[in-house]
Amino acid sequence: MVNKKVLIIGSKGMLGQELVSVFKRDKDYKVTAWDRKEIDITDQKQVQEKITKLAPDVILNAAAYNAVDLCEKDKKEFAKAKNLNGKAPGYLAKIAKKIGAILVHYSTDYVFNGLPEIPEPQGCTHSCSSCGLHQDFVPQIGFGENAVPEPVQKYGRTKLMGEEAVQKNGEKYYIIRLSKLFGKPAKSAGAKKSFFDVMLAAGKKNKEVRVVDEETSCFTYAPDLAKKTKEIIESKKPFGIYHVTNSGACTWYDAVVELYRMAKIKTKVASVSASEFPRPAVRPYVSTLINTKLNPMRNYKVALREYLKNIK
Ligand SMILES: NC(=O)c1ccc[n+]([C@@H]2O[C@H](COP(=O)([O-])OP(=O)(O)OC[C@H]3O[C@@H](n4cnc5c(N)ncnc54)[C@H](OP(=O)(O)O)[C@@H]3O)[C@@H](O)[C@H]2O)c1
Repeated sequence: MVNKKVLIIGSKGMLGQELVSVFKRDKDYKVTAWDRKEIDITDQKQVQEKITKLAPDVILNAAAYNAVDLCEKDKKEFAKAKNLNGKAPGYLAKIAKKIGAILVHYSTDYVFNGLPEIPEPQGCTHSCSSCGLHQDFVPQIGFGENAVPEPVQKYGRTKLMGEEAVQKNGEKYYIIRLSKLFGKPAKSAGAKKSFFDVMLAAGKKNKEVRVVDEETSCFTYAPDLAKKTKEIIESKKPFGIYHVTNSGACTWYDAVVELYRMAKIKTKVASVSASEFPRPAVRPYVSTLINTKLNPMRNYKVALREYLKNIK
């Protein structure tokens, strides 16, 4: 017997397609998968009418504008990003509240400024940095779920607008922040390729690649995030903000060294600073998402090995 109706929006995106397969595998769910052709979530009237008619129990919103650099330099693109990332989540939150559905919305580490506070060991008075309490103390550096967001680029601002719209208009919602998503290339034409796919192609073409050895954060394997999303809903976790990434914070450079080692690619990897790679949008220097609410997920290296095996 089917118990729950789940609606997946952005179902042809990198994450959306994995959500569809995770929920479809479970016969307790009746899955409706909508992408841009079936619904334009920036059109509030359409959102109200179509979702009221479907009456889902759970709405998963994996649709987003992800062209970080394009929306930094182009006003029209920024307007698109504000509509899709900033306003549309509020429309979904309103309708979810009206029909009593749970809303899951995804956000990003780019809501943070890249300068995390360095924690002190418990009991330290903060008047020194070398007292006995510091011995063997390894602080976890990054941003917890309650850290104050302060985006440093326009994309991050639009995603923060979306979080705030969900919080303002919603009731039963989960905001799940993730970083550096990777997985099977999305089915949708406009979707972004994951970093590992770009670097695999670059490794096959070049003798040397130059990679930014900064911007520390965690990778998130789309199938792992999809499973974790289902687990959060089914275990009836309290509504609110969650950080879901694979463990193993690293820079882009560290990850490419690991990728080429695993894929047996001999291309030389040169470490460069972000200033050698000017891009329109500034990236946070460190944006590791610290998860204090859930069991940690496996290390990204284990997930990456699985990914490479599956694309062979
Ligand atoms: N990718 C990352 O590295 C990353 C990092 C941090 C957070 N996130 C967040 O993770 C979530 C999933 O990202 P993703 O990379 O899986 O996205 P994605 O692959 O770009 O997929 C987004 C999907 O949404 C669809 N879409 C676009 N505009 C729409 C509209 N107006 N109405 C309905 N659907 C629309 C897209 O269709 P078209 O292709 O036809 O436009 C696409 O299929 C997003 O919230 C994103 O911000 C991603």
